[in-house]
Amino acid sequence: MPVLAIVGGQWGDEGKGKVVDQLAETADVVVRFSGGDNAGHTVINHLGEFKLHLVPAGIFSSRVLCVIGNGVVINPAVLKQEIEGLNRSGVDTSNLVISDRAHLVMPYHLLLDELEEKSRAGKALGTTKRGIGPAFADKTNRLGIRACDLLDKAALGERLAMVLESKNTLFTSVYGAPPVSYEQIYSEYCAYADFLAPFIKDTVVLLGQAVAKKQMVILEGAQGALLDPDFGTYPYGTSSSPLTAGGALGAGIAPSRIDKLLGIFKVYCTRVGNGPMPTELMDETGDAIRDIAHEFGTTTGRPRRIGWFDAVAARFSCFINGLTSVALTRLDVFDTMPALKICTSYDLNGQRIDYFPASVADLEKCQPVYEELPGWDKPITHVRNFADLPIEAQRYVRRIEELIGCDVSMACCGPSREQVIQLKPVI
Ligand code: IMP
Repeated sequence: MPVLAIVGGQWGDEGKGKVVDQLAETADVVVRFSGGDNAGHTVINHLGEFKLHLVPAGIFSSRVLCVIGNGVVINPAVLKQEIEGLNRSGVDTSNLVISDRAHLVMPYHLLLDELEEKSRAGKALGTTKRGIGPAFADKTNRLGIRACDLLDKAALGERLAMVLESKNTLFTSVYGAPPVSYEQIYSEYCAYADFLAPFIKDTVVLLGQAVAKKQMVILEGAQGALLDPDFGTYPYGTSSSPLTAGGALGAGIAPSRIDKLLGIFKVYCTRVGNGPMPTELMDETGDAIRDIAHEFGTTTGRPRRIGWFDAVAARFSCFINGLTSVALTRLDVFDTMPALKICTSYDLNGQRIDYFPASVADLEKCQPVYEELPGWDKPITHVRNFADLPIEAQRYVRRIEELIGCDVSMACCGPSREQVIQLKPVI
């Protein structure tokens, strides 16, 4: 049985939760490997509709070991709430484990996210304000507090006191904000420690055992490739790598152990937050897609920006992720659209280019060059075989496949587990 990495191919919100929920039926282990509660994975199954922020989408299969990996930053308040909410809905969370190496989002990270965004004035990144950037900055700057620190309250207190010295200098001297209270944070985190301690384990050991037993392991990404700190629309991106390579690091499974790499792409593009998006639709077509598809952020409720499928960005994403196949989601959103466009190249300063530029200034100037395809103008939510799709829908999928240079293994035509057309095996 393989190790399968599942990642977002665009700017996040591609429908990873649904695909992981479906594939988790055959998995033994699901590991969330990056991001934090900035992510919002919607899962609709026989138990109801769930919006997961930290817990892996494998949680609904009781035989699956669900791991929050070392690459995730955990806000304990959010995780506690999420676990309690799942339990109230009858979902068993005794199969959840948290990496002892995962870093924690602290109350001062949330404050800093807010203050840093304010200080960027007209150039705000549009973060989710969940403290993610400041938490990852502290991780890299060796000022982080980790899940294993919750297991030793005396050490937690010492570390917190040390970190707060520098944070409170920053709050009072740079931002003119009041200092944060050691006592309050310490007692709050001691309470989280009591709740979370039974979940905190050395997950590298557990994953090593799973790989040795040839169990099926899913590495579940968060966000999407175009938000990657290296390859995304920097600085308009997130702070941990949503790529398959991030999956190796954020789970503690070597790249050589990853057998299959599945990228999830919507059949159009969406983006929340600021930054360039070459195919963005600022017209009634964009509004229509947003309304039909209910494109509002799971975490922040913000309306998502909408654009046509960008094959230049998608090809780039397939390459940097090394994808072995692609799942296309939300094909049914186009059921009533008369014509569809795919961006095949960009026009940058009068020159045709077919690569995704590094500079946001260049990306802002890129004009999409489109190819138009006919729509199918009939419902497809009931279709389960590719050959039963209207010929126009088949052509749309095949054209994307050609343009991005990667096989499409799945096409989703509705929100539930069953509304999936399998074109090829994923694993
Ligand atoms: P942060 O990750 O909260 O710092 O936000 C940085 C950027 O990533 C902003 O543009 C966010 O809107 C975006 N972002 C973060 N998480 C997600 C997600 O799960 N889906 C889509 N966009 C996200």
